[in-house]
This record gives sequence, structure tokens and C-alpha cells, in this order.
Amino acid sequence: MSALFEPFTLKDITLRNRIAVPPMCQYSANDGLINDWHQAHLTSLARGGAGLVIVEATAVAPEGRITPGCAGIWNDQLAQAFVPAVKAIKAAGSVPGIQIAHAGRKASANRPWEGDDHIANENPHGWQTIAPSAVAFGAHLGKEPEAMTPDDIARVRGDFVAAARRAREVGFEWLELHFAHGYLAQSFFSEHSNKREDSYGGSFENRSRFLMETFAAVREVWPEHLPLTVRFGVLEFDGRDEQTLSESIELTRRMKAGGLDLMSVSIGFSIPDSKIPWAPGFMGPIAERVRREAGIPVASAWGFGEPTIAEEAVKNGQLDLIMVGKAHLANPHWAYHAARTLKVDQPSWTLPAPYAHWLERY
Ligand SMILES: Cc1cc2nc3c(=O)[nH]c(=O)nc-3n(C[C@H](O)[C@H](O)[C@H](O)COP(=O)(O)O)c2cc1C
Repeated sequence: MSALFEPFTLKDITLRNRIAVPPMCQYSANDGLINDWHQAHLTSLARGGAGLVIVEATAVAPEGRITPGCAGIWNDQLAQAFVPAVKAIKAAGSVPGIQIAHAGRKASANRPWEGDDHIANENPHGWQTIAPSAVAFGAHLGKEPEAMTPDDIARVRGDFVAAARRAREVGFEWLELHFAHGYLAQSFFSEHSNKREDSYGGSFENRSRFLMETFAAVREVWPEHLPLTVRFGVLEFDGRDEQTLSESIELTRRMKAGGLDLMSVSIGFSIPDSKIPWAPGFMGPIAERVRREAGIPVASAWGFGEPTIAEEAVKNGQLDLIMVGKAHLANPHWAYHAARTLKVDQPSWTLPAPYAHWLERY
């Protein structure tokens, strides 16, 4: 029996297996509006057999896009564009999720294949970024963000709430708040980027405030019966990991008490020169610690693209849900091939009948 192909229930949602496609930016939208490429991309991923497909980091405000090509959900027209993808994901038996995001000081950048560097304010394609403090990210990305005022903080919190409401209105059933990867929320939590001296900076309590308040505000509008999840960088690989990890676990406990259903355990990416020990499945033991000490279901990504490694991580209790990213880009039918590799005779996942009729007879 495969652990990876056991169904997973969270609130009223049951995923057909433990495989999720994590959010992956396509950098191909125009003014936040997604297009035919996104529909093709998301549909192909859903029909491959994963239990959950999470749409890419989708900006809650125009200045929260990483690049000019990033998707947005700051008005109803942008939200409506997701309807065909939501329907296609559901038609293929998968659950449609979305990650809502604000890139903070990492916004206003060129697309990765066009340099990844920041676009200057003077350039018509660039814009002024905002962040907890006027601290740029790294030496080569030298664009200085504006420190947010209390009004800015309240506005962005409202943007997350409005985005969550719209996500529900167009049919998403799983919401992930992007509090990871050095973007706005993570940059409030990290002492590398948060130098504030008001109630949003300094102590653990204060650095957590933007995340806790935004989470609580979204919790009020996101339906109780559907999963509300957070992706968060629980450590930075900056030599201070024990302290950061214990703070992150405490933050997770507090969010759980406020209604968090699952923590997607990731990396902070708050500094450009972190020493990340890349290896297959290396986040497994870290996620397991969050799972155990905070008592909450966890997901993680980074190097689970080998079916046997993914299987092992679920079987040995490290992860409840495995995020398989790049391997899905290479092979949208990753789940099907994983089932074959793991010799799952009667997978609890269901390919749509027009495929299953032929392929389950292998
Ligand atoms: C093209 C691409 C775009 C990505 N975009 C996002 C994103 O929008 N939000 C996010 O949290 N992570 C993003 N990531 C990180 C992935 O979700 C995932 O964590 C990463 O690819 C590691 O998993 P893997 O080793 O299975 O690929 C992106 C990764 C890739 C390759």
C-alpha cells in the first residue's frame, strides 16, 4: 500500500492523494490578467493526477507583483479570468487552490529569463516597492523600498482580505497565503529586513504582528469549511536557524489557534547568500519538526520529484502533503508515473475515465 496515494482530508476537502502541484509563477500575465497560456498550463497539470493544484503567486495589489508578468487578483475582472482554469482543474478530479501574495521589496523585478534584476523606478515598467523598512534585498538588487506607514499596513491587509473573497467567489477551494520567500510578510518576520521601531518591528511578537493580523482578517472571510493554509519560510540557513525555527514553530502554533489548517514549510530567502543544504527531500526533517511541535498538518517542496523519496516522506510521518514542482513542469503526468513506479495497483486517485479506461490496465 502506498502512503503517497492515500487520500488526504482537510476540512470538507478530500484530495485523492498526497500529491500537490505547488504555486509556480509563469511571469506571462499582462497587467495581472492571466491568459490562454495559464489555462493550458494549469489544465495539463490537473489532468495528470495530482490531488491539488495551487495557482501561482497571485498579487493582491499591483505593486505586489514580483514582475510585470505576474498574475493578479486585485479586481473582479482579474478574478473572473481564473474561472476556466478552476473548472478545468475540477473536471480533472483535482482540487483548485490559489496562493495570494504581495512581493514587498522583491517586487518590480524583470522576469527571471530577462535578468531577474530590479526594474528602476524611472523605467515605465517598474514601480516603487514597499516593505517594513527601507532595506534593499541584496547587493545586486539595489532598489530601495519605501518603509510602510500604518495606513499602508492596513491597506495591504485589506487587499489580502479582498483577494481571498474574490478567490472564493470564482470557485477556489483551497487558499494559501504567501508568507514565505522573502516577500512582504516574510520580510516583516525577518530581522534581516525588518528594522522598525514601532509595534511591527523588534520583538518576536511585533515581527509576527503583520502575519497574525493578516491571517486573522483573511480567516474571517474565508469559509470555515475550506482549507486555509500558509506558506512560510521557517528558517533562513543563515547560521541562526535554531532560534528562527523555534520562533517559526511558535508562530505556527499561534496561527493554528487562530484557524490555520496546514503549514506549507519553506525557506525564508531573506538574504541572497544563505547556505542552503540542497539535497533530495532535505526539508522533510524540518517540516516534520513543525508538524510534531506545532501539532498541525504540513506540506513541503524542494526535491521530492523522485517518487520513492516522496513516498518515504509520507510513510515516515514527515509530511502530510508533498509539493512536486519542477518535475511536474517536465511531466504533467508525474502522479501517474509515480503510481507506476511505486507499483500502486489500484490507486485511490482517479484519472478521468477517458484516460483511466486505457491506462489503468497497465
Ligand atoms: C517556475 C517556478 C515558479 C515558482 N513560483 C512560485 C510561486 O509562485 N510561489 C511559491 O511559493 N513558490 C514558487 N516556486 C517554488 C516552488 O513552489 C517549489 O517550492 C520549488 O520549485 C521547489 O520544488 P521542486 O524541487 O519540486 O521544484 C516556483 C518555482 C518555480 C520552478
